[in-house]
Amino acid sequence: MSDDDAARKPDSSGGVTRRDFMKISGIGLAVPLILGPTVVQAAGEDVAVYGPGKVPLTLTVNGKKLTAQLEPRVTLLDALRDTFDLTGAKRVCDRGVCGACTVLSDGKPVYACSILAIDAQGAQITTIEGLAEGDALTPVMQAFVDHDAKQCGFCTPGFVVATTHFLEQHSTPTPEDIRRGLSGNFCRCGTYDGIRAVALAGKVQTARLTSKIPVTNLTGKKNGRAS
Ligand code: FES
Ligand code: FES
Repeated sequence: MSDDDAARKPDSSGGVTRRDFMKISGIGLAVPLILGPTVVQAAGEDVAVYGPGKVPLTLTVNGKKLTAQLEPRVTLLDALRDTFDLTGAKRVCDRGVCGACTVLSDGKPVYACSILAIDAQGAQITTIEGLAEGDALTPVMQAFVDHDAKQCGFCTPGFVVATTHFLEQHSTPTPEDIRRGLSGNFCRCGTYDGIRAVALAGKVQTARLTSKIPVTNLTGKKNGRAS
């Protein structure tokens, strides 16, 4: 049998020939990346497969619908920072360890670096930019400032988001509550003593603050250190 015949010969299972396979592969390479899912059969069910090209996504962030075309591999953190210019959540470890990227998803703290943007569709995402009203700091942000609970500032937005959620659950926490409740966030600068600010913040949660310190001092957009 010549090579040509072998290339044409169907395999014993009735599948495609080597030549057919090469043709199909060639077609696949020639077709531009398309939007929308491909439906494939898996275990007798239709399964939508997204990517590898860009697909349209809609995220709800700080109460606003944000749309973009992103590859399905893009994390929520990268979408927030690189596509929507919300740089408050920081990329530090990028592997679900340090908590610098903490945002709220349906009110619960999550690591944005460990969630795909495509999977965050449908959730209410709140970043540190969405916590404050206007330029006034929240009680938690003010407590971090008052207690000098930051140095480089990279961990600070994640800590503020996590602390805000923590204090909603523990209005008068003990030091042990604070240690345990914020154990998912690390500060390489070692500002843990300052972060006892959360205890004070817990007591002033309902206080009306009149501070006019721009929130961007905490989110890092204007201080030139963490962005
Ligand atoms: S950057 Fe996400 S946990 Fe460290
Ligand atoms: S202030 Fe630098 S890592 Fe926390």
